[in-house]
Amino acid sequence: MKLIGVSGTLAGNKTSQAVHDVLAAASLIDSTIKTELIDLREYEVEFCRGEPLTYYNDDTWKVVKKVLDADFVVFGTPIYQASISGVLKNLLDFFPEYAFKNKVTGIIATGASEKHFLVPENHLKPVLSYLRGLVPSTNVFVHNDFFDIETDEIIDHGISKRIHHLAEEMIFLQRSIDSRLNSSEK
Ligand SMILES: Cc1cc2nc3c(=O)[nH]c(=O)nc-3n(C[C@H](O)[C@H](O)[C@H](O)COP(=O)(O)O)c2cc1C
Repeated sequence: MKLIGVSGTLAGNKTSQAVHDVLAAASLIDSTIKTELIDLREYEVEFCRGEPLTYYNDDTWKVVKKVLDADFVVFGTPIYQASISGVLKNLLDFFPEYAFKNKVTGIIATGASEKHFLVPENHLKPVLSYLRGLVPSTNVFVHNDFFDIETDEIIDHGISKRIHHLAEEMIFLQRSIDSRLNSSEK
């Protein structure tokens, strides 16, 4: 199984660190799971213009393909203006309506205000559900205070536990979907 993590920021390190930690937790739970972090800072994803994918540059094509080819995906976003980042929403705009059918789509968010901990639930979950992704009940909000000020590593034990739970639930749900699909094929 391949788990892709998407870090939806072009600015700091916190979101990519949080997504990285979900991938690391998944590998720890099951070492057969292949993981890859797509850090959007490393790709020139174009603005979505509603045209076929072949009209876009290689990076856009590459990122969309990688996400579509994954068995399941965890999306990371910083909270921007009480919503998800524009760069993540722009990426999501490229996917067809059934992009995540039979796939688990997890959520992890970072932010400076605790008041916004439900933003991913209200703004990202509906988009992923529209794309037919199964969103786990565990989603993780990591306040900036839970990162080491110098290294941006997550230093809060409670958050690390939630990240572990998220990875666990994602694997459990994806395996359940896969085994149901396999048994209905027989
Ligand atoms: C343009 C902008 C808008 C932001 N708006 C919010 C916000 O509404 N609520 C919040 O909790 N944090 C907000 N933040 C803080 C970021 O979500 C937070 O610092 C996050 O950890 C940054 O992630 P990064 O290091 O991966 O870029 C904002 C930051 C920026 C740059």
